[in-house]
Amino acid sequence: MSDRYIDFVNSPLGQLLAKNLGLPAPLALDRFKPEAPVVKGAVLVGAAAGSELTAAITQVLANIKAEVFAAADSAVHGLASSAGLATVSYAPSAEDGQKFKALVFDASGITRSDDLIALHSFFSPVIRKLANSARIVVIGRTPELCDNPKHATAQRALEGFTRAIGKEAKKGATAQVVYVAPGAEAGLESTLRFYISPKSAYVSGQVVRIAATGIAGETPDWNKPLAGKVALVTGASRGIGEAIAQTLARDGAHVICLDVPQQEADLNKVAGEIGGSVLALDITSAEAPASIAAHVKNAHGGLDIIVHNAGVTRDKTLANMKEQLWNMVININLSSEERINDELIAQNAIRANGRVICVSSISGIAGNMGQTNYAVSKAGVIGMVNSMLPSLQAKGITINAVAPGFIETQMTAAIPFAIREAGRRMNSMSQGGLPVDVAETIAWYANPASNAVNGNIVRVCGQSLIGA
Ligand SMILES: NC(=O)c1ccc[n+]([C@@H]2O[C@H](COP(=O)([O-])OP(=O)(O)OC[C@H]3O[C@@H](n4cnc5c(N)ncnc54)[C@H](O)[C@@H]3O)[C@@H](O)[C@H]2O)c1
Repeated sequence: MSDRYIDFVNSPLGQLLAKNLGLPAPLALDRFKPEAPVVKGAVLVGAAAGSELTAAITQVLANIKAEVFAAADSAVHGLASSAGLATVSYAPSAEDGQKFKALVFDASGITRSDDLIALHSFFSPVIRKLANSARIVVIGRTPELCDNPKHATAQRALEGFTRAIGKEAKKGATAQVVYVAPGAEAGLESTLRFYISPKSAYVSGQVVRIAATGIAGETPDWNKPLAGKVALVTGASRGIGEAIAQTLARDGAHVICLDVPQQEADLNKVAGEIGGSVLALDITSAEAPASIAAHVKNAHGGLDIIVHNAGVTRDKTLANMKEQLWNMVININLSSEERINDELIAQNAIRANGRVICVSSISGIAGNMGQTNYAVSKAGVIGMVNSMLPSLQAKGITINAVAPGFIETQMTAAIPFAIREAGRRMNSMSQGGLPVDVAETIAWYANPASNAVNGNIVRVCGQSLIGA
C-alpha cells in the first residue's frame, strides 16, 4: 500500500500547495542504505555535570567513526581522543549555519529536579540546527534503580522532555530516552547505534531500559550481526513478516519462513529470494508447537531467534462480535505463541543468547474501537513479555516486543478510507510507517550485542497520538 500524498507533497507543486494551504507536509524519511555510515552528518554530544555515561557514549561514537562535536570544555574530547577519534569544539550561535544529524545528551548526572535545567541549556540553543530525519537521544539512569527518590524523580522526568521534543522537532526527527542500569554500560552499543541511525526512522518518543541481565552477549560483525544465527519468522509470506525475514537475512541470519499452507506460493518466493527455508503450517494447529520444535532441532540443531509476527484482526464492536471471532483472534495472536514458546523451551530448542521477539500493537496499549478481541490479544502479548522474562533470562534468552502503529500493509489497506487517513496522519511524522521500520526494530532486538535489552516494549508508531 503506497501513500500517494507523501509523494505528491514532496514534489515541487505539492510543496507549494501544502505551504499555501497549510496542509500536512510529511517528509520522505531517511531509511537505512547498505554501505551508508551509521549516522550521516555531525553528532553533537553534551552531558549534565557529574554524568557517568559519557565514556560509554563516546566509545560507541568512536567505533562508528562519527563526526563528533562538543563544547570546548567537554570531557568528550579527551575520551574520544583516547578512543582514536578526532572531535570538533563547538559553541552554538544563531548565525553559524551548522546542522546536526544527531544530538546525544548524557543526563545521568541529573540527580535532582533543579538539575533538569541542563536539558534546556544543551538543547535550546541547537534545536533549530537539526538536519532532516535527525536523532535526539537522551541517556540516563534507570529510575527504579536510583538510590534515592529525588534522583529517581529527576531521571523519570527525562521521558517528558523527549516525548515533547519529539513532537516539536518535526522534519522527520525522532527523540528517545535510554536508561542504563548500573553495570550495564557495555550494553549500550547496539541500542545507541540503532537510535542514531536511519534504522529507527519511525520510532519516536520511546523509552528503553538497558539492564544488567547476566546474559553473555557477543560482539558481532556490525555489517552482518546475525551471521551464523538461525531465525524463525511466523507470518513471513507478506507484509511486516516478509520485511522481517528480509531484514534478518540481510543481517546474515538463515531465516525459516513460516506461514499457513494456503500462503505457500508467496512463502516460497520470500524464502527463495533470501536464501531461507520454508515451514508451511498453521500456528494454531494442535501439532504446530511440536512440529516447529522438531524442525528447528533436526534441520538446524536449535534456534537463535523466534519472531512471533503472525497475527490477524477481525474487527467488530463487542455487541456484534461472535464468540468465534473472539476465539480466533486470541488463539492466533496470543495462545498459539504461548504454546510454541512453552514447547521450544521444554525441548531446549532456543540456544544461549537467544531471542524471543513478539509483535504487539498500539491497540494493545491504548485500545481501539471495534478491536476488543485484538486489543486483548496484543495486551496479552505484552503480558507474556513481562511474565516470561524471569524464566527466559535465567536460560540466557531475552524477550521483547514491538508495538507497531499504522504500518502500510494489506492489513491497513483494508481499513475504510477516512479511518485510514486519520491513522496515517495522526503522528509526529504525518505518515504511516513501512514494514521495514518494524523489521529494523526487531533486528536491533535480535542483534547478539542486545543481550542487555530485555523486557522492552517499543512502539514503532511515529509517535502516534493514539495511546501516546
Ligand atoms: N499493519 C499494521 O499497521 C500493524 C499494526 C500493529 C500491529 N500489527 C501486527 O503486525 C503483524 C503483521 O501484520 P501485517 O500487517 O503484516 O499483516 P498481514 O495480514 O499482511 O500478514 C499476517 C501474516 O500472518 C499469517 N498468519 C495468519 N494466521 C496465521 C496462522 N494461524 N498461522 C500462520 N500464519 C498465519 C498470514 O497468512 C499473513 O501472511 C501482526 O501480528 C499484526 O497484528 C500490524
